[in-house]
Amino acid sequence: MSIEILQTQKLLASCEAALAAKYTVHRLHEAADKSGLLASLKDRVRGVAGGGVDAKLMDALPKLEIIANFGVGYDTIDTAAARTRNIRVTNTPNVLNDAVAEITIGLMIALARRIPQSDQFVRQGLWARGTFPFQVELNGKTVGILGLGRIGKEIAVRAQAMKMRVAYYGRHRQPDEPFVYYDDLVAMARDVDWLVIIAPGGKATERIVSRQVMEALGPEGYLVNMARGTLVDEAAMVEMLQQKRLGGAALDVFEKEPAVPAALFALDNVVLSPHQGSATQQTRDKMGALVVANLDAHFAGEPLPSAVV
Ligand code: GLV
Repeated sequence: MSIEILQTQKLLASCEAALAAKYTVHRLHEAADKSGLLASLKDRVRGVAGGGVDAKLMDALPKLEIIANFGVGYDTIDTAAARTRNIRVTNTPNVLNDAVAEITIGLMIALARRIPQSDQFVRQGLWARGTFPFQVELNGKTVGILGLGRIGKEIAVRAQAMKMRVAYYGRHRQPDEPFVYYDDLVAMARDVDWLVIIAPGGKATERIVSRQVMEALGPEGYLVNMARGTLVDEAAMVEMLQQKRLGGAALDVFEKEPAVPAALFALDNVVLSPHQGSATQQTRDKMGALVVANLDAHFAGEPLPSAVV
């Protein structure tokens, strides 16, 4: 029997096929009786493919050696618990940088130029009755990036191509980067026209974009969230968008996906997207291949291509 692994979420067909070719795969996400399945696999599962792994699940699988997450963000995995149990954790960085950066700029333009609304304007035959309202441009504006990591840097160069100035906030100044650094998020929000969130989720960044930050961004400011819903005080954001105390928002992520605050549907100053930063066939195939490559490397005793623990 080949090495047994547990799949915790639906993965791409190409990834599932590659896993099934090498491993005996058990699908937790499809099991009607999850605890029954776990009990029957207790001493057999050595790897997990997918996210959503807490300490309890780790304890149910005492032979677990590695969790290969599908996604660059691994906030659904308790990495501290993994570390103490000597379980490796991997993610899928880099292969998605371009895809996420592209759609970030796309959503910014969609919000600034009201692309979804202008499409509706034409489809609904309103063009014959009058002109669509003027909009705003990106060029000449300043974008502040919250989290100048690998994806943040790709967004920064594309924003420069849009003739925007770029600033960033993070825990540390990055001396090799040419962009203006802020060690105070409120101060950056006050100085920029756009705030793009592309920092990791998890406890350390929970609600980092507070009401105060959004107040600093103000009625002319635009918020773009490409990271995790948890980074924003969502209730405050909705209220401020309704009251036009925040200019607009382009949102790819939400606090309780796939639930989206219904109040957002009524707002004209918002563009909504179903968490699809990396959702292209090209990129998702590469992410899936990296999940498999990490598992393969681990079980072959080789260095892991992208370990986080
Ligand atoms: C997507 O959200 C990811 O973490 O890859």
